[in-house]
Amino acid sequence: MSDTSTSRIRGFYKLPLAERLSTMRDAAGLSETSWAWLSGGGGLGVDIADRMSENVIACQGLPLAVALNFRVNGRDVLVPMAVEEPSVVAAASNAARLVRIGGGFHGEADAPIMTAQVWLDGVADPQGAAARLDNVRAEVLSAGDRAIPRMIARGGGCREIGARVVDAASGTVVIDIHVDVGDAMGANLVDTVAEAVAPRLAQAIGGKVGMRILSNLALRRMVRVRGRVGAEAIVGEALADGIARASRFAELCPQRAATHNKGIMNGVDAVALALGQDWRAIEAGAHAWAGLADGYRPLATWHRDGGDLVGTLEMPLAVGTVGGATRTHPGVCAAFELVRTPSARELAVVIAAAGLASNLAALRALAGEGIQKGHMRLHSRRLEASVEPALEESSR
Ligand code: MEV
Repeated sequence: MSDTSTSRIRGFYKLPLAERLSTMRDAAGLSETSWAWLSGGGGLGVDIADRMSENVIACQGLPLAVALNFRVNGRDVLVPMAVEEPSVVAAASNAARLVRIGGGFHGEADAPIMTAQVWLDGVADPQGAAARLDNVRAEVLSAGDRAIPRMIARGGGCREIGARVVDAASGTVVIDIHVDVGDAMGANLVDTVAEAVAPRLAQAIGGKVGMRILSNLALRRMVRVRGRVGAEAIVGEALADGIARASRFAELCPQRAATHNKGIMNGVDAVALALGQDWRAIEAGAHAWAGLADGYRPLATWHRDGGDLVGTLEMPLAVGTVGGATRTHPGVCAAFELVRTPSARELAVVIAAAGLASNLAALRALAGEGIQKGHMRLHSRRLEASVEPALEESSR
């Protein structure tokens, strides 16, 4: 997709599948390999699957779709989604069209810092751990760097280290090591660092080495995204007020916040899965973040701003454009050619935008006609062959 291409492709849903595919080839400039995989119906050869996991007996399939109308930081983006739930893709596309009228999504992701934890048990004088760490700080950071030479060559590496006493009585101290993992998701990298430096840490600080593993609450790898919708775009003041009220309800009630966040994760997970990301890690981080302050809170909120409705989403988001399944799975490679986001930080913003769009679509339905009408119409597509009018209403 050239930078001047559009993600606003009218009537895409009405095209026969083969034409949808050729439209994507022309829009994204797909490689021969991806074209061959997509036009062959996708899927994963069992021989590749056998190398990806253990005890493999076959492959599980999911629909791969493209959400349209997304404009993110001034660039049109085709957003691949792998999801089994009807209406998620149509709803996200529809909401993205509304946000597009107000200028599209804008956002930014923090530098890709992942945190490894080394646990030390039975540390004598745990309160003095931070001072003892100071004595070896530079040495430990360079030892960590030596364990990940290819990441150092790509400009990443160990950045900071700190000690926290988590239980003085048992002398339990955790050492947090913050590592720039570049465009990788980074789990393996920080685990490597933690294992490499743990013996030296125990020697310098005392105690016995316990766990050495990343934290999936990637607090230094947050993403923030915003979108603005004019009241006229969402058919009137009453509905705009209703969306803001529905959002407020999620701030007031954790039971509602859980469902509100589920709707956000409909978009986040679908894009993450299409792009071969570790969606379990994303889920773990999202919900840990949501529960970190007072009670469990919504990841995204919407409020009225003059005549407009403004939505913001903030969450930790550890994703990568290199490593993992990004090179092994042909469908993931094809999805990357569609989304065309070379850096992990850009990718995080696109995924977050899909989450915010999914949230807006859900709140709009809930504040309006109710979720069942549009949702169930698309559900019925599983049972009935002819449902084009329903698709038309939801994804236009
Ligand atoms: C259904 O998959 C997601 C919703 O329940 C989200 C929400 O209630 O906000 C519709």
